[in-house]
Amino acid sequence: MDIGIDKIGFYVPQNYIDIVELAKARDVDPDKFTIGIGQDKQAVPKPYQDAVTMAASSADSILTAEDKKDLGLLIVGTESSIDESKSTAAFLMDLLELPEDIRAFEIKQACFGATAGLQSAFDFVSLNPGKKALVIATDIARYGIKTPGEVTQGAGSVAMVISENPRILKLEHKSVYMTRNIGDFWRPTFSKTAFARGKFSNQVYVDFFQTLWQKYQAKFDVTANDFSTMLFHIPYTKMGTKALRTLEGKVSDEKYAELTDHYQASIKFSREVGNLYTGSLYLGLLSYLVNGARPNEELLLFSYGSGAVGELYSGQIQPGFDKAINKDKILNLLDNRQKMSIADYEKMYQVEYQNGTIVDPKTVQEKFYLSEIKENERLYKKLN
Ligand code: COA
Repeated sequence: MDIGIDKIGFYVPQNYIDIVELAKARDVDPDKFTIGIGQDKQAVPKPYQDAVTMAASSADSILTAEDKKDLGLLIVGTESSIDESKSTAAFLMDLLELPEDIRAFEIKQACFGATAGLQSAFDFVSLNPGKKALVIATDIARYGIKTPGEVTQGAGSVAMVISENPRILKLEHKSVYMTRNIGDFWRPTFSKTAFARGKFSNQVYVDFFQTLWQKYQAKFDVTANDFSTMLFHIPYTKMGTKALRTLEGKVSDEKYAELTDHYQASIKFSREVGNLYTGSLYLGLLSYLVNGARPNEELLLFSYGSGAVGELYSGQIQPGFDKAINKDKILNLLDNRQKMSIADYEKMYQVEYQNGTIVDPKTVQEKFYLSEIKENERLYKKLN
């Protein structure tokens, strides 16, 4: 039975800051941010948006009544959860009008959460023929104003329906993974912003990729020639470049040129959005599907979550995959955003809500929003 990604949807907040303007405001050479880090724009969520509202939006963009009837599993991968107890998935039951015979929960392991969800969904669909699973990656990446990590922030969500006979990407059940206790990135429960040993994190990331690529080749008796594309976790686009560069001189020049060319197609959206944390690999997949993919291509996907867990797995792009993706809707979402000044972004960053009504619905443009905090419980609404 073939199992994999049957649908993929995306949501990005409607405001962004320009990375050159950010560089100037921070008195940094813009080339450092656009070339050295590899970013052009950074998505900025409104204060009444969070992991829940963005997850609802990405899932809502793809789910039909038929999908909802067939769902048996909902997994949300996030490290920007708004509750230490109740899962983001539980909040989505009302917002998405899902039937209650669903196993719904949240997974956290830094940027690895969505991959953990995807692999669990594969197992679920294998054991429950005819059922579907919904996996959502949703995050707000925050390092703080004027920190080294500020340029690598971002926000957004990717939702995927996993089913039999997938129309987009068949998962091949070929995978290698590893876990080590590593202090490269963390966010204690008291803090809204992450702490990172950024350069150390780069080293661990590259080391994980090299280790897993060796393991993968040995386990499945393959070489780089068996793949036309490698997709990487891309918290900022230079990071994937560093992993890809380890193959230079080890594969033929033609293969390296092909992999580099395809990598460029996979980072187009990330350059425009920034870090989605656990959604970053899947935003890269979506970018590749929209900007470069061909039917029957063999993909290798490298997932990495600080702390640290890595997984390298393969999939095959399905014939007719492009008909299962609403390319125009995705490009419109990216193209019709509004630029925000650095001063307004800084002001918005400081907003903290207490109990009470959050926002006048007449001023809300987004379909899903945080409407009220009552006895410290967050309550959400959907605009009809
Ligand atoms: N023009 C072009 N490139 C420039 C430049 C310029 N004027 N100035 C610097 N650069 C390059 C540097 O050479 C470097 O490239 P390299 O990484 O290929 O060596 C890059 O820009 C970044 O410069 P660096 O001095 O290392 O930046 P930094 O000290 O500000 O830190 C990060 C950059 C990425 C480490 C920092 O933003 C960070 O910690 N981000 C969080 C990332 C993270 O940990 N995420 C979790 C990952 S899963």
